[in-house]
Amino acid sequence: MQKRAIILGAQGRLGTALVQAWSQASVDLGLTSIIGLGRKEIDFSDPLAARQSLEAQALQSGDLIVNCAAMTDVDGCETKRELATTINATTPEALSRLAAQRGARFLHISTDYIFEGTLDRPYRETDEALPLSHYGASKLAGEEAVMAASPHHAIARVSWVFGPDRLSFVDQVIKRALTSTTITAVHDKISSPSYTHDLAEWLAFFLTPETPGGIYHLCNSGRCSWRDYGEHALQMAARYGLPVLTTTVAPLSLSDMTQFVAKRPVNTALETAKFAAFYGKPLRSWHEAVEEYVKNYGSQLKALS
Ligand SMILES: NC(=O)c1ccc[n+]([C@@H]2O[C@H](COP(=O)([O-])OP(=O)(O)OC[C@H]3O[C@@H](n4cnc5c(N)ncnc54)[C@H](OP(=O)(O)O)[C@@H]3O)[C@@H](O)[C@H]2O)c1
Repeated sequence: MQKRAIILGAQGRLGTALVQAWSQASVDLGLTSIIGLGRKEIDFSDPLAARQSLEAQALQSGDLIVNCAAMTDVDGCETKRELATTINATTPEALSRLAAQRGARFLHISTDYIFEGTLDRPYRETDEALPLSHYGASKLAGEEAVMAASPHHAIARVSWVFGPDRLSFVDQVIKRALTSTTITAVHDKISSPSYTHDLAEWLAFFLTPETPGGIYHLCNSGRCSWRDYGEHALQMAARYGLPVLTTTVAPLSLSDMTQFVAKRPVNTALETAKFAAFYGKPLRSWHEAVEEYVKNYGSQLKALS
């Protein structure tokens, strides 16, 4: 029997990592093919056309569709609300319904921004979602629509995604420190970084029908502020020979970020115990993941200077 993975948003930060990692591990994962579809092959701004594009893949029972496509510009979602709703909710609804009709599983990637961020502990899957921004609201609407299409579908909420395929906060901080001694980052916003290489390993659990559908939190263990995250990245950069001019990050307050259009939640660290029970061990820490990333991709970051 064929076992296919169809990755949507295949040219994004997470989508690229998934296609690469699952292609390399296809034999171990029992995958007969991995199909990556980018914006050119499937346009999420048009739900009907997107449905037709996915239909052209002749979906069948046993297929896993992983939706990494999204409008991820948080401030842009605030100003282009209709488009954000279409890309983050209406099209995922249409595609997840099609998947359910064909007996395929739809794994939808979502975000910590569906939470209000006022709890003083990491959020569990069962905590109430109360988004502060249109990005969060559109992603939550997407989650609800996907789960309404089939209880076998799954939602993986991730946060602060980093990896080698598209620049993120870690790269920006290191890039700045290659030419400047003054680095600043917000100290009073807390979450949990998620390394794309780890996500690729964890998301593979959804290839097996034994992993039940539903909502899961997936990120590296532990929590940190943007400032902690940046300082650790700089310390690792120095350890692995990058010529950073400082390893200190000065604190900014979230309230100093007057350029933000959308309101950001303060504490959206995610509790991952639910998924860890399937994984069989705790998910490795964000410290370890950032270290491995800087160690393996340091030369790529050095070229940014
Ligand atoms: N990045 C984070 O820190 C973060 C945090 C929490 C949750 N997430 C979630 O994680 C998932 C993956 O994010 P990511 O970091 O990989 O983001 P990303 O690099 O921005 O990838 C999103 C992908 O969606 C594609 N896309 C945007 N509009 C589209 C459209 N109209 N039609 C088809 N494709 C379209 C983009 O295409 P182009 O390449 O052409 O732009 C891009 O490849 C998303 O669901 C996001 O909400 C991310």
